[in-house]
Amino acid sequence: MSPRQESETKRGEAEATPRALVVFTPSGRRGRVARGTSVLDAARRLGVDLDSVCGGRGICGRCQVTVSEGEHAKHGIMCTGAALTPPTPTEEAYAADRGLAEGRRLGCTALVGEDVVIDVPQESQVYRQVVRKEADARSIAVDPVVRLYFVEVEPPQLASPRSDLARLLDALEREWDLHELSIDPVALRNLQHDLRAEPAWSVTVAVHDGSTITAIWPEFHDAAYGIAFDVGSTTVAGHLCDLHTGNVLASAGEMNPQIRFGEDLMSRVSYVMLNAGSEKELTRVVRGCVAKLTAELCREAGVERTDVLELTFVGNPVMHHLLLGIDPTELGGAPFALALDTGLRLHASELGLPVNPGARAYVLPCIAGHVGADTAGVILAEAPHLSDEVTLVVDVGTNAEIVLGNRERLLAASSPTGPAFEGAQISSGQRAAPGAIERVRIDPETLESRVRVIGCDAWSDEPGFADVRVTGICGSGIVEAIAELHLAGVIATDGTIDGSLAGRSGRIVRDGRTYAYVLQAGEPELRVTQNDVRQIQLAKGALHAGCMLLMERYGIDRVPRIRLAGAFGTHIDPVHALVLGLVPDCEPEHVTSAGNAAGTGARIALVDRSARTEIEEVVRRVEKVETAVEPRFQEHFVNAMAIPHDVDPYLRLGAQVALPRRWTATVTTDRAARRRRAAERRAS
Ligand code: FES
Repeated sequence: MSPRQESETKRGEAEATPRALVVFTPSGRRGRVARGTSVLDAARRLGVDLDSVCGGRGICGRCQVTVSEGEHAKHGIMCTGAALTPPTPTEEAYAADRGLAEGRRLGCTALVGEDVVIDVPQESQVYRQVVRKEADARSIAVDPVVRLYFVEVEPPQLASPRSDLARLLDALEREWDLHELSIDPVALRNLQHDLRAEPAWSVTVAVHDGSTITAIWPEFHDAAYGIAFDVGSTTVAGHLCDLHTGNVLASAGEMNPQIRFGEDLMSRVSYVMLNAGSEKELTRVVRGCVAKLTAELCREAGVERTDVLELTFVGNPVMHHLLLGIDPTELGGAPFALALDTGLRLHASELGLPVNPGARAYVLPCIAGHVGADTAGVILAEAPHLSDEVTLVVDVGTNAEIVLGNRERLLAASSPTGPAFEGAQISSGQRAAPGAIERVRIDPETLESRVRVIGCDAWSDEPGFADVRVTGICGSGIVEAIAELHLAGVIATDGTIDGSLAGRSGRIVRDGRTYAYVLQAGEPELRVTQNDVRQIQLAKGALHAGCMLLMERYGIDRVPRIRLAGAFGTHIDPVHALVLGLVPDCEPEHVTSAGNAAGTGARIALVDRSARTEIEEVVRRVEKVETAVEPRFQEHFVNAMAIPHDVDPYLRLGAQVALPRRWTATVTTDRAARRRRAAERRAS
């Protein structure tokens, strides 16, 4: 007897019996159903979210529920395990084959016998929330745009010559209430073969957006995955997710191979301007990188590429255009016109990706010529548009994307920070990788340093550090080093390294016409040079000025909450970021890490279809601020070059951290140092 027949027989037996009260938790939905009704049917009748792919055949295991045994005074129910009928042979077979946790029942085979309280666990709900680990982070709703449906299709008959597709659509309508579906030609190609593959006349179909059949598998198939990509100018990262659970199964990143055409975005745009037709090559290499990552992610997660049905992309405007094969030349100069500023839906095959031929891709919308789909991803992940509190979100890369606002109003801009925060243009700089100094402490008395490097938890003055090879300083390391040197009185408000201290500490050494601080002696010797400090000042000045422009436009002079996003933003210490003046003054406890918010936004758009409508609506009302043409940018920039700031006293930070008085290192030459030492001798 088939599982359906089993259920129908039992239902028939129970038809004349009185109705039982069924209460579902956590939804709280309740109602009376005929005894003998399956839990799955009861859930559907009462509008309870209980998943199913196999349509109640006891195959998929998505409909698992638990009886909440005990007295439920609120509902007037004394509930025992006997409230549901005992497991059927189908359920027992499922438990033997795939395992069923203690107390779990298959909702499609378990029938209601008595009044009962039934708990629907998270994983059995179609629409569920994935709680993110980071504090302050919004949960991710799981409601993928593509869903799988198992159906049994009537075999063809001479007497009623309906096509295979017509009978498949009939079955989907009958069993799943899906109407007016169309089919992608790539899925149609194998339809006849798939329907006749043994055991014949049962297939699983993938339906995209409730309207189009995009893939078909013979028999029951229960695997649907998606990949969220963050296409950055330096790194391309992908996260492979289970579309059923929303969980990330594998993550991987690759250097963007376009780097050989230019280190930063504008140099790549210049390359395209100077070399007619070269945009095709840039498109080819970035798509090749995405394809390589796709294969790598599938391999790592043990997933068939043909089970990847959905892809999402975020990226800055230049990356966005190049990925889509659009010439980015217009983004190279004012008025920085985007080719499009809406989300884009396309076939993944148009990007040449090795996934299911019917897979779809969704590219999040760009906001403005310098504010890309990566910022749209940041907005989705951080959701400032859903909050009453005004939040400043800063995603720091070679361009800093800045978002400010709340549910009333949202502003966005980008600021040209350059590559210094990624360790480039820093004398001992390197990318964040094992061996790079990421944490720095300077003793204000001795001016001695302690460091910690990526890949080792011990500080350099601890025993566990003995064999660690230090290779360079990454972005967060250089920020901490400069902030600590400022707190220790080595670097002045104007950013000058005070050479007069050379006599006090051997770590301050002459470096041409200026001075440097030796962060790490030995081989390799790692220094913080005057030029390093200048590069960081320029970068942070641009970032801070962008923040100030947005605050000014918004009409506030303080932000209550700051979120630091991106690889650099995630690793930077909030106190050091404030000491340096990277962001406007704020209570240090209200400056927190947002993780890889752009990538998270791509992941949200991947697993939650409604997030796509949401971000497109939000992007339409974002006020764009073009920093390049704002007359006040230069003034803010000059003020923000000082550490932490030339005008703002940083009182909120100062309430918790002893900031040095404002000072200028006037003694930087040998002659001046000699004069000062002589004065000191005289005084002593
Ligand atoms: Fe598939 Fe119950 S609905 S096992």
